[in-house]
Amino acid sequence: MNILVTGGAGYIGSHTCLSLMEEGHDICVVDNLSNSKETPLKRIQEITGRRLQFYRIDLTQKASLVQVFEDRRFDAVIHFAGLKAVGESVLVPLAYYSNNIVGSLVLFELMDAYGVKNIVFSSSATVYGEPEKVPIKESFPVCPANPYGRTKLHIEHILRDLFAADRKWNIAILRYFNPVGAHPSGMIGEDPNDIPNNLMPFISQVAVGKQQELFVYGNDYPTHDGTGVRDYIHVMDLAHGHAYALNKLGEAPGLVTYNLGTGKGFSVLEMVSAFEKVSGKPVPYKIVSRREGDIATCYADPSLAEKELDWKAKLGINEMCEDTWRWQKKNPDGYI
Ligand code: NAD
Ligand code: UFG
Repeated sequence: MNILVTGGAGYIGSHTCLSLMEEGHDICVVDNLSNSKETPLKRIQEITGRRLQFYRIDLTQKASLVQVFEDRRFDAVIHFAGLKAVGESVLVPLAYYSNNIVGSLVLFELMDAYGVKNIVFSSSATVYGEPEKVPIKESFPVCPANPYGRTKLHIEHILRDLFAADRKWNIAILRYFNPVGAHPSGMIGEDPNDIPNNLMPFISQVAVGKQQELFVYGNDYPTHDGTGVRDYIHVMDLAHGHAYALNKLGEAPGLVTYNLGTGKGFSVLEMVSAFEKVSGKPVPYKIVSRREGDIATCYADPSLAEKELDWKAKLGINEMCEDTWRWQKKNPDGYI
């Protein structure tokens, strides 16, 4: 297939491009590099021995994006591009609404105009907000607790309205849980700017000596050890999930929504101890107060994706830690 990947230079996008290229698909990436570098795209080509096409374009710039649709014919689009930092979205909500929603609107308008009506959209478990119970099913109420999550939900609504108006669209909304890990080559991985917001990159930066200690945000949650529980999913499992979603679009399913998670929850302290074991490095930590907006427990019921996509996460917490550690050791300063 000819696939347009927006945000393909980013963390999940780069792993997905690699996986799709290994399966023989032709990839065209559009990314403005606002939160990434071109290096992973070069490395993907080294790993696969195949070429991809790259346009450095901002999705909100319609006149530039038109050129991409003029140049190539696409069978499907995978839409990763967006800003994703929860805390930042509270401080600069307009930047999030503008980038994520306007960028998506421009993309959908051009897809419509050029008759490209197959899309996989990166949504997030954050749309569920604080769940009434776990595991979380796709049918649970949605109520995101921050502007970032609300941009994701708005885009889901736009896609639903689009499908209601034109049944020729095929749309797979994927709600990711907590992606971690890296490609086993150690050549591509997660490369956060400045100090990492997320747990796994922070742990690995402590282990490699870039950060002194981890701050554990609260040990008074109603969980087995008091620290937050999440559904960590290996980024390669997540990447493969996109190929399964593309296959599904081939069956013309209309609009479908799937959780992509493992169905298992691990606490912050369990992640620390798994990482210490795999890396052989100590990860000193200090318990501090809760982070605003965090919830106690969040993990998926991934059975719908298993039933309808035939996809299931295969990699466990050890592979997640091993691959993160390999990437961190090989690239202590990220992509330079
Ligand atoms: P990322 O920041 O690494 O990748 C996003 C990419 O989009 C970046 O390369 C960035 O430069 C690009 N981009 C942003 N705005 C753009 C624009 N206007 N035009 C062109 N390119 C633009 O993030 P990621 O972790 O790879 O996440 C990918 C997608 O998955 C995002 O939509 C994110 O919201 C979603 N998601 C991520 C997580 C997570 O924890 N990483 C969880 C759930 C959902
Ligand atoms: N945590 C710490 N210390 C840190 C970072 C995180 O204790 O330095 C804790 C958090 O309190 C939470 C857990 O580790 O209990 C996971 O936190 P992350 O920041 O790694 O992930 P979140 O679950 O908060 O959110 C992530 C993404 C969201 C996405 C969501 C999907 O940041 O964008 O997963 O479930 F929507």
